[in-house]
Amino acid sequence: MVVCGVISFSTLFLCLFQGVTSLKDVQLLVEPSTVIKGGTAALICYRDMQGAPLYSVKWYRGNHEFFRYTPLEVPETRVFGLPGIYVDMNRSNGTQVLLRRLELGLAGNFSCEVTADSPSFATQIATKFIDVIALPTLLPVLVTDKDHYQPGETLRANCTSPPSRPATNLTIFVNEEPISASETSLHPSESGLLYAKVNVDLKVTPELFPGGRLRVACYATLYDVYNQSAKLDFLTPETDPRPERITLGGGASMCFLNWILLLFLVFLPMLVRGEDYGLLDDELNSQFSYYDEGSDQNALISLVGG
Ligand SMILES: *[C@@H]1O[C@H](CO)[C@@H](O)[C@H](O)[C@H]1NC(C)=O
Ligand SMILES: *[C@@H]1O[C@H](CO)[C@@H](O)[C@H](O)[C@H]1NC(C)=O
Ligand SMILES: *[C@@H]1O[C@H](CO)[C@@H](O)[C@H](O)[C@H]1NC(C)=O
Ligand SMILES: *[C@@H]1O[C@H](CO)[C@@H](O)[C@H](O)[C@H]1NC(C)=O
Ligand SMILES: *[C@@H]1O[C@H](CO)[C@@H](O)[C@H](O)[C@H]1NC(C)=O
Ligand SMILES: *[C@@H]1O[C@H](CO)[C@@H](O)[C@H](O)[C@H]1NC(C)=O
Repeated sequence: MVVCGVISFSTLFLCLFQGVTSLKDVQLLVEPSTVIKGGTAALICYRDMQGAPLYSVKWYRGNHEFFRYTPLEVPETRVFGLPGIYVDMNRSNGTQVLLRRLELGLAGNFSCEVTADSPSFATQIATKFIDVIALPTLLPVLVTDKDHYQPGETLRANCTSPPSRPATNLTIFVNEEPISASETSLHPSESGLLYAKVNVDLKVTPELFPGGRLRVACYATLYDVYNQSAKLDFLTPETDPRPERITLGGGASMCFLNWILLLFLVFLPMLVRGEDYGLLDDELNSQFSYYDEGSDQNALISLVGG
């Protein structure tokens, strides 16, 4: 194989003489492979120049050129304004172009066209459809028709995913096993996204309460970039008729944080060495006044103050 990267008379002559077939295997790759709205994506143009010098790399969306790299010109790079395309010039060169702030409307066919310099001026183009997806910003919501169930009853549940594009895949699990639900129905949201909804009817049997608990969960997933769930637990009617509802995600940790904060506020004065408890009492008063308004408050304050 002859390498003609160095332009000198003898190598050029050699290349011509041996009839080098230049430029092959032009490929367009996208990193990351799933492009998310508002994020960035690097479009990378691989090619095998076979030693031929590069004349230009041109980038298109549809038929519109938006970026060009010509190593022999000054400047080497040029951007052609196209609505919605934000090229990061600092990270774009002869191999790749980095796009920022991607919008849903930008989804489409992107191409890179590589041209070799003289003598061949061989040209090859690679095209790829690039989708832009919108992740859900909320968690799925699971509802059942009742709070608790006796064996023999039917549990009816609906799961609704938050809006996204495309719509999420919804799967219902009963005690960690996926079960078949209804066909997923899709509904447009106000923001032009889609939300998905499934419902399921489950015949309740005693066997569904291993260890005294029946768990129904709904997973909403979007390729490998989003996977969130909503879960509901039901206890065996014999042991405890009340359902234990759990919320995953933000809810649980917020509650935990509130408790830490409360404990901190209660024990802070004991930790602080100093005389002026009166001031702290006042602060605590205002802190607690919206928790309990009755005599409990006095008990708390005297505990703290003493
Ligand atoms: C490119 O780099 C320059 C200098 O390092 C910096 O001032 C500029 O903000 C950068 N532009 C982008 C789009 O990152
Ligand atoms: C092009 O830029 C990318 C990212 O900044 C860098 O990783 C790559 O090495 C550069 N390639 C060339 C040929 O300069
Ligand atoms: C992208 O290109 C493919 C194949 O050439 C074509 O079928 C498709 O309609 C194009 N999509 C868009 C959005 O232009
Ligand atoms: C589930 O959705 C259907 C159709 O929207 C509705 O009729 C039903 O009442 C819902 N069930 C529950 C448990 O919310
Ligand atoms: C939904 O699941 C199907 C089948 O597993 C898969 O082909 C598809 O890519 C998934 N869609 C999304 C948006 O995750
Ligand atoms: C989502 O996460 C759950 C558990 O965290 C896992 O069992 C399931 O396979 C995941 N689903 C997808 C589509 O990645």
